[in-house]
Amino acid sequence: MRFLVLGALLFAIPPPAGQVADAHRDAVDRRVDSLLSLMTLEEKVGQLVQVAVEGEESPLAEEYARQVRLGEVGSFLNSIGASRNREIQTIAMTRSRLKIPLLFGYDVIHGFRTVFPIPLAQASTWEPDLIEKAARVAAIEASSAGIHWTFAPMVDIARDPRWGRIAEGSGEDPLLGSLMAAARVRGFQGDTLARRDALLACPKHYAAYGAAEGGRDYNTVDISERTLREIYLPPFEAAVRAGAGTLMCSFNEIAGVPSSGNRHLLTDILRGEWKFDGFVVSDWGSIGEMQQHGVAGTLAEAAALGITAGVDMDMESGAYHAHLADLVRAGKVPLPLLDESVRRVLRAKFRLGLFDDPYRGGDPAREKTLLLAPEHRNLAREVARHSMVLLKNSNVLPLRKEQNVALIGPLADNRSDLLGCWSGNGREEDAVAVREGIERMLGHPVPYARGCLVAPLDRRGFAEAVEVARKADVAVLVVGETALMSGEAASRSTLGLPGVQEELVRAVAATGVPVVVVLINGRPLAVGGFEESAGAILEAWAPGVEGGNAIVDILYGANPSGRLPVTFPRSVGQIPLYYNHKNTGRPFQAEERFTSKYIDGENSPQYPFGFGLSYTTFDYSSVSLSSPLLREGGSLTVSVSVRNSGKVAGEEVVQLYIQDPVASVTRPVAELKAFRKVSLRPGEEQRVDFVLTPEMLAMFDLSMHRVVEPGAFIASVGGNARDLQSAAFQFESAGPYRLDRR
Ligand code: NOJ
Repeated sequence: MRFLVLGALLFAIPPPAGQVADAHRDAVDRRVDSLLSLMTLEEKVGQLVQVAVEGEESPLAEEYARQVRLGEVGSFLNSIGASRNREIQTIAMTRSRLKIPLLFGYDVIHGFRTVFPIPLAQASTWEPDLIEKAARVAAIEASSAGIHWTFAPMVDIARDPRWGRIAEGSGEDPLLGSLMAAARVRGFQGDTLARRDALLACPKHYAAYGAAEGGRDYNTVDISERTLREIYLPPFEAAVRAGAGTLMCSFNEIAGVPSSGNRHLLTDILRGEWKFDGFVVSDWGSIGEMQQHGVAGTLAEAAALGITAGVDMDMESGAYHAHLADLVRAGKVPLPLLDESVRRVLRAKFRLGLFDDPYRGGDPAREKTLLLAPEHRNLAREVARHSMVLLKNSNVLPLRKEQNVALIGPLADNRSDLLGCWSGNGREEDAVAVREGIERMLGHPVPYARGCLVAPLDRRGFAEAVEVARKADVAVLVVGETALMSGEAASRSTLGLPGVQEELVRAVAATGVPVVVVLINGRPLAVGGFEESAGAILEAWAPGVEGGNAIVDILYGANPSGRLPVTFPRSVGQIPLYYNHKNTGRPFQAEERFTSKYIDGENSPQYPFGFGLSYTTFDYSSVSLSSPLLREGGSLTVSVSVRNSGKVAGEEVVQLYIQDPVASVTRPVAELKAFRKVSLRPGEEQRVDFVLTPEMLAMFDLSMHRVVEPGAFIASVGGNARDLQSAAFQFESAGPYRLDRR
């Protein structure tokens, strides 16, 4: 008996993690290679072809069924539903020669059927662990509907709120963006891709898609290698390090090279430096679009450019399907290069366990019980609550149940726009409107007037809105953008509230009744047109399926703890406006004309990065350092005490920023290096320690090496990027401390 127990114990002691991973990898690679040796050239190309089949129609159109039988397609996108995807997979598994399972991909951006707040809102929580849980729920639901792969997380840094896709990312900061990227990869993929409820993640859009000139979608990008590496690439690297199995390239060019043909990005950096071993998919049609970019004269040339640069799978451009086999036969694309791409795709299918169970989690019974499960909705409500940012409050919030409230505005009794852009399989009927949420909570109807629609210039509803407000103690106006005003192809050239909504706010405020403005939107807005009229402003973003309930939770006392992941400008003319800017040779001074500023407007933002109010207040002690010196291999602790000086419990996001005031290249005035969300009871005080290591001070020097240069640094701590307290220390080293081996 004793022997048996010992034997079992010995068996249970796991070999080191690296060995397991390597052994598993070798086993997968052997299976991949033996399959590859059986494949015709056309079948190989087929694995690199992704085709869109919209909707849930059944049976599959003959044209697609034929392609599956012939092994001409490796993946479908936009096909959802457990039954339908089973049916399609069955064709591949029974009617194709080699029975290679298909991979089903879908844009599960912020939830599948249980729609969570948009990613920009999720980033406002500053709680990566919570966001990991949201991604897990999305994966559980989507996998039950026959999906294997999500085109998420979108990890593009965005410094331009005109760009509609700012809604899909985590804002402007590389550190916050990296932590959110990694959390979402972990959430989607779970602890192993082999579990049937794991989704293959696909960080996108690689790279710098958010830096489109003028904030206009798909537009040209021209940025330095330093800005690329320091600002735009870190979230991708973080996602790769978190184990992301795939990656999507972007539509844009950078400095003359479209991403779908950018070998430096897709091969040198991604595979060479970061050791990414998954596969790369193009964006929709982006390989073919290299013709419009003007770097390929024909679709065949575009295919050759794409595969040689490192794009393994062609989403929807048809270039690989039509030309890749001929290009190989003509010697224009080497067979080993093609084989390597096929290997990567097959490896992903093996890792997902598709060869053992081609249907995986896709199961109509699971789908029925899992979609919109009560615990999923509860989590969506929690995330929405944690994502809302209180921008202004002149003692108007929280509301009291005994107050007579009037509900006004085009988005007050609206469900679909609360879901936001890219809302997966979300349905309008699943969502809770603010009106419904407030009436359910109060237990009686609430006077309501729409006032106007979001975009049209029609003021005919104003009189009714003013009338309803007059009879109330407080008016709650729910205004903002429709879901389609952000997301792809939804750039704006203005940032105020669309249509006549600002006038509506002002007209209602003119009654003298206190006004609470609840904003529903997918980007930072310029609030100058109504800020003074509002007693309180709550940024609720597009809050998802539980949006109405979560907004009501906050209005009636749940303490807001969201903080801005992106700067709110005062006007469009200030864009791009971001906290981690450079000092310039002529830093802003109000009274000095020849400094960097506008003659007709301010430099400062309306609301800085990291900002958000609470129903309580927090006092910070001065910053203390464990030592004035930091050395290679060492660390130093930056400490501060934070006290809840108000009357209710609340959460504060304590933020640590660093500045390197003199270096061999210019450095930002501040860079976020760490943060902690702390929960404090009234009167409670907590010490927050941040451990700083030299690696956290790294930068790219003149030769593009990652180094820490000796000299002075400034550590600043506070509740946002503007209101900070500082202490200086030295990094001591004989010379620049090299962190890379490039
Ligand atoms: C185009 C978008 O840019 C990308 O984000 C998305 O994943 C694909 N279409 C597929 O829908």
